[in-house]
Amino acid sequence: MNGKPKLALLAACVATPVLAAGVAMDDQSQLTPKPAATANSTRFQPPREDDLPDNAFGKLVREGHAIFVDTQTHAAEYVGNGMNCTNCHLEQGRKADSAPLWAAYPMYPAYRKKNDKVNSYTERMQGCFQFSMNGKAPPAEGRVINALAAYSYWLATGAPTGKELPGRAYPSIAQPKGGYDIARGKVVYAQNCAICHGENGEGQKAAGHYVFPPLWGKDSFNWGAGMHRINTAAAFIKENMPLGKGGTLSDDDAWHVAAFMNSHERPQDPRLVDGSIDKTRERYHANDGVNLYGVRVDGVLLGQGTN
Ligand code: HEC
Ligand code: HEC
Repeated sequence: MNGKPKLALLAACVATPVLAAGVAMDDQSQLTPKPAATANSTRFQPPREDDLPDNAFGKLVREGHAIFVDTQTHAAEYVGNGMNCTNCHLEQGRKADSAPLWAAYPMYPAYRKKNDKVNSYTERMQGCFQFSMNGKAPPAEGRVINALAAYSYWLATGAPTGKELPGRAYPSIAQPKGGYDIARGKVVYAQNCAICHGENGEGQKAAGHYVFPPLWGKDSFNWGAGMHRINTAAAFIKENMPLGKGGTLSDDDAWHVAAFMNSHERPQDPRLVDGSIDKTRERYHANDGVNLYGVRVDGVLLGQGTN
């Protein structure tokens, strides 16, 4: 577990995407879980990079792509951790069942329970900046949002508007019958995850940039991010991890390891109410899927934050 994995390993993994059948996640109220199509051939196909025109539109789309895959470099002022958008929206936002942008873009505006209003696509992306990227919302009419919206729009070329496509979001999986088990998750983590993400979830850097993103700690997503929910993380992990071997963990082990991951500290929820973890849990976490914010684990209160 101490050996540093070679970058070639990463490349090999990235080159072998695994597409599995699934159903949409159930956490966002505009998403109604339904069985997804099983055959990959029925999946929506976003355009290929070669199809991009060499003009002003193509230039803006390329800029959006650059921001999405290397947010650290191209939108640094809005990022407060070590993440890039593509770390959770795999294959540059193209991978079905990994919250692909082509399935998201045509579904907005949409109501979100999270902020109890109808959100524009811009507001939805701003949400990922504030929580998943632990940063600040880029201005609605600015370069970053315009470029990301253009990239999403282009990936959704030919997709129907307002019709949920198979492959949207992360396919939810049932909770273990006996509940999740953090101790079991620790074992699953050591065996399947630590080689890339580090023994303490700290990720691994090369030349100052993360090649394996952190799973908890100060450089990870914050306590307000969708991934802090054990159910959402379990769905993501089952489908996509270990990288290149998505679908190999049992549903139960995906839950256990998601619970282990999300039983560690990470940056505070930026919506912190009156400096109180209890009040913040009450208002934002008590009814937000399965999560450990404001809960005691082994006598330690979670949700204290790293910043
Ligand atoms: C830590 C993981 C993570 C990172 C990093 C991340 N996201 Fe997300 N994103 C999610 C999750 C999880 C969801 C699913 C919705 C939820 O559960 O809140 C989501 C949902 C979305 C959606 C809506 C998808 C849909 O189908 O409605 C968009 C658009 C989006 N993200 C854009 C971005 C952009 C742009 C960035 C980079 C600035 C980014 N995300 C970074 C985890 C992440
Ligand atoms: C072969 C290396 C490798 C292994 C093994 C691996 N991951 Fe990952 N993981 C990655 C990489 C690389 C990314 C980012 C993907 C990208 O940017 O395209 C990632 C992304 C993630 C993310 C979303 C981003 C973040 O940092 O929060 C989570 C959560 C995650 N992995 C959890 C796990 C878990 C749990 C396991 C074990 C079951 C695991 N991974 C095994 C390489 C790996």
